Amino acid sequence: MNIRSETVQDYLAIAEVNTLAFGQENEAKLIEEIRHSKRYIPKLSLVAEVESLVVGHILFSYIDLVGEETLQVLGLAPMAVLPNFQKQGIGSALVKAGLEIANARKEAIVIVLGHPQFYSRFGFKPSVNYEIESPFPVPEEYFMVKPLQNYQEIYKGKVVYPRAFESI
Ligand SMILES: CC(C)(COP(=O)(O)OP(=O)(O)OC[C@H]1O[C@@H](n2cnc3c(N)ncnc32)[C@H](O)[C@@H]1OP(=O)(O)O)[C@@H](O)C(=O)NCCC(=O)NCCS
Repeated sequence: MNIRSETVQDYLAIAEVNTLAFGQENEAKLIEEIRHSKRYIPKLSLVAEVESLVVGHILFSYIDLVGEETLQVLGLAPMAVLPNFQKQGIGSALVKAGLEIANARKEAIVIVLGHPQFYSRFGFKPSVNYEIESPFPVPEEYFMVKPLQNYQEIYKGKVVYPRAFESI
């Protein structure tokens, strides 16, 4: 398996992976909208390929953390692995690769809404531990933060997602 940043040639395959993994087209459309926005970070849209076939994808893009000032932080969403390739470590490898790139870029935190058993493996903790508030009415363990090497205490407040996320 190889992990690399996406290129324009991957767009169709990425849409397909997301549509098959989620059983709907909303996530693929969200990815397209983010690509057309200022929140898009090409280096942090990663594909996992097996024998040149794109089997997994993860996207980190900028979302807002609104506290005393508004700071841009990374949001992890969506992530998808083709059904036949799930539970083989591909999703985990994508998360780890993304966190390494985020650290190298000196980003401060990554936010995710997802399953605590899965994301806690990578050091994600409930956002309330960092005084970061979720915009969604979900149990607090599902809204998580991974502080990176560049984390500082100024990263506090309420998370605001761009409108494009309302579709998922
Ligand atoms: C979530 C997803 C990307 C994980 O990819 P993957 O390649 O299967 O992940 P890995 O093989 O690295 O890890 C799988 C582990 O995560 C756990 N896991 C994955 N999704 C889970 C979920 N929704 N709830 C609970 N546990 C989950 C699995 O039980 C498994 O645990 P194990 O290692 O103890 O068996 C993949 O299952 C997927 O595409 N799901 C559909 C889309 C989705 O829900 N995306 C996440 C929200 S953005």
